Amino acid sequence: MSLNPNIYLAPFQGITGNVYREVYARHFSGIDKFFTPFFTGISGKKTLAGRARELEKTAHSGIPVVPQILSKDVNEIIDFATGCNEKGFKEINWNLGCPFPRVAAKQRGSGLLPFPEKVEEILEKVLPAIPLKLSVKCRLGYHNPDEILKLIPVFNRFAVTEMIIHARIGKQVYKGETLPGDFQNALELSEIPVVYNGDIFSKADFVKISNRFPEIKTWMIGRGILVDPMLPALIKNEPLSADPKQLARKFTDDLYLAYRRKLNDRPQAIGVMKELWEYMAFSFDDPHKVFKLIKKTKSFDEYEDTVLKVFRDFRWLGSQSRQFDSNSL
Ligand SMILES: Cc1cc2nc3c(=O)[nH]c(=O)nc-3n(C[C@H](O)[C@H](O)[C@H](O)COP(=O)(O)O)c2cc1C
Repeated sequence: MSLNPNIYLAPFQGITGNVYREVYARHFSGIDKFFTPFFTGISGKKTLAGRARELEKTAHSGIPVVPQILSKDVNEIIDFATGCNEKGFKEINWNLGCPFPRVAAKQRGSGLLPFPEKVEEILEKVLPAIPLKLSVKCRLGYHNPDEILKLIPVFNRFAVTEMIIHARIGKQVYKGETLPGDFQNALELSEIPVVYNGDIFSKADFVKISNRFPEIKTWMIGRGILVDPMLPALIKNEPLSADPKQLARKFTDDLYLAYRRKLNDRPQAIGVMKELWEYMAFSFDDPHKVFKLIKKTKSFDEYEDTVLKVFRDFRWLGSQSRQFDSNSL
């Protein structure tokens, strides 16, 4: 098993924005780097200035934040990097993993993976023009998992700082089996640090995958942390300051209040919490019942009463229950 692993929190559009990251970092330990959900279309009407709030903090409780861009437009990537540099960020991350057909069909996200020449052309222009580090987050391919083998020599040549690989292909979206054999092939070819991402939902999953890839030092975890925010501490054997259920309760309450503040008490705050609850419900002993109860709530009073009831009536089992897998949602 990997000793002293680094753990990165995976970005989730609609969930892990600055409010979540800020509150998370105040409540839990174990994360070494945060990534923003992707920015896109920042050159036109939606300029970076319009979304300054999301880039307000370069770190949360001392943990660095890496802004992410989803684009195939050289000028847009350079504008983004320049803006991030001015705000004090040290690195940006290029999203080559987004699997959604709407994105991929336009050769963006994982849709760029079958086109190594295009990736090369973009890096050739972008890298000399930006003053900060560039890492990539990709998959093994879009149509098939050996597409990455043509991309890695490009990343090696441009000395991309880090390559985070979600061990799936774009067509799988987030479901089905990960492809560790193909990840191994990519690892062997890479001359830059590789970060493993995909389906670490429990400490047992981490032990298994880190035994398979002892040379990997850094792991990105997404859904596993949404389900159980204490998973990184568990993996790193860091002690918890209280009972896990109590910690989960405090975190959930704090996050809800932070969203209410951010959204000026608009009911949307409940909507954002529901996105998280869809995952976190899997830490309780009856996930479907828990989410059903939360999903029904419409007013702040209803939401608050239901959260109280959930924490009172259901057991918190956390990631060790292994109730969540990639086909759960
Ligand atoms: C709803 C949703 C939103 C996501 N948003 C992003 C994003 O903005 N940027 C990104 O690189 N990955 C995004 N991802 C992918 C995750 O960061 C992560 O790579 C994926 O869930 C696999 O890791 P996991 O198995 O640990 O969850 C998203 C995934 C989901 C399900």
